[in-house]
Amino acid sequence: MQARQSKMITSATSYFMSQYTKHYLHVEKPSLGLPPPPEAKKYLLYIHVPFCTMFCPYCSFNKFTYTKETAAKYFQHLREEILHVKALGYDFNYLVIGGGTPLIDEEELIRTIELVKKLFNVEHVSCESDPNHIQKETVTRLKGLVDRLSVGVQTFDDALLKKLGRYEKFGSGEEVYEKIASMLGILPITSVDLIFNFPTQTSEGLVNDLERLKKLTPEQTSVYPLMTSSLVKNSVKKTLGKFSLENEYNFFKVIKESLKETYPARHGWSFSKESDLIIDEYIIDNEEYVGVGSGSFSFLKNTLYLNEFALDPYASLIQEKHSAITKERTFPLNSQMYYRLMVDLFNGTLSKKKFATMFGVSINDALGKELMLLKFAKAIKETKENIITTEYGDYLFLVMMKEFYMGMDRIRNDARKNLII
Ligand SMILES: C[S@@+](CC[C@H](N)C(=O)[O-])C[C@H]1O[C@@H](n2cnc3c(N)ncnc32)[C@H](O)[C@@H]1O
Ligand code: SF4
Repeated sequence: MQARQSKMITSATSYFMSQYTKHYLHVEKPSLGLPPPPEAKKYLLYIHVPFCTMFCPYCSFNKFTYTKETAAKYFQHLREEILHVKALGYDFNYLVIGGGTPLIDEEELIRTIELVKKLFNVEHVSCESDPNHIQKETVTRLKGLVDRLSVGVQTFDDALLKKLGRYEKFGSGEEVYEKIASMLGILPITSVDLIFNFPTQTSEGLVNDLERLKKLTPEQTSVYPLMTSSLVKNSVKKTLGKFSLENEYNFFKVIKESLKETYPARHGWSFSKESDLIIDEYIIDNEEYVGVGSGSFSFLKNTLYLNEFALDPYASLIQEKHSAITKERTFPLNSQMYYRLMVDLFNGTLSKKKFATMFGVSINDALGKELMLLKFAKAIKETKENIITTEYGDYLFLVMMKEFYMGMDRIRNDARKNLII
């Protein structure tokens, strides 16, 4: 496909997705909290730990300045919220802990994981970390508790790390590399997070990041395109320069090419040495999940639930034995179908049978026009059983998913208005 043509299609897709998320992705209706489990099955539990000692200019996740006292109080409430979810009758087989900085208070985190393991039939635990909390002793304590630790590196380039404020906080690219090298192998899976398409990043810079990654040999990596929602647009511009989509597709191709031998793509931005290892894009891999902690989301059946973002109101709700969920939104059928199309094709394959079972109608009947447009854009191919992405389609669905995540940021933006962080 001509470069000009692909640019046009990509821009149109971005525009369509941003309109789509503006239209569908807002959560306004007051909520009474989670219903009892809609089905007798095991769900995914997400725990949010919203504390950092510094704020990176690109990061839109819900977070507050860390103090030991605030975190101790927060973890106490988190455990009470988990007990509330247990009392509703939920069971979980998969636990994901994200932040912020989950390991910012190791003791509290360990107590919380132990509680979850005692209450539920959890089989896998995945946790995020910054590079400062992965000392050998810490990671060794997590053995048997955590199966997968993903470490935020973002880039090994010192000039970029300095602009991001991460050099001062987490050390040089080389120091971060050494920290990770010394803890590899302690847990079953270590994953490294990188971000590409930072303003001023060059192809050579990206190739260098990928070469460092391959030399380090973690089990997995996630290489995210920089997402610049309205929450972070200004801080990205101020610290890094003007953001552009000009190089994004080329960078994506560089990543795919560089990683294809050792880290085949598992979905849009996750790459893994082995295909059967867990990955933690819980929003993408799990149709339903329950989130606990300030600013977390839950998604059950066709409804998105939003927890209180601010720490004091979150604490009050828990103390008063209320649900921490304050708002919800039930999605209409057509938006659920669009969502399924996007998520499955972000993973590379949509099963026609699964779609028909889910919605009681064939995808060709329900989304015929959309499929036609995607075929015209040379983004998908159709077989008897499946719809699969082409090489360009892999990129186009990454663009869609990025827009979807930025749409979620709009919800965070609304919820965080007037918050003191
Ligand atoms: C919530 S962060 C937690 C990581 C950890 N606190 C750290 O800083 O290393 C999880 C990952 O999300 C990714 N991320 C955060 N903001 C992003 C953005 N605006 N665009 C792309 N990826 C982003 C980063 O790769 C980050 O490592
Ligand atoms: S990237 Fe990590 S350290 Fe930086 S602000 Fe986000 S959660 Fe905090």
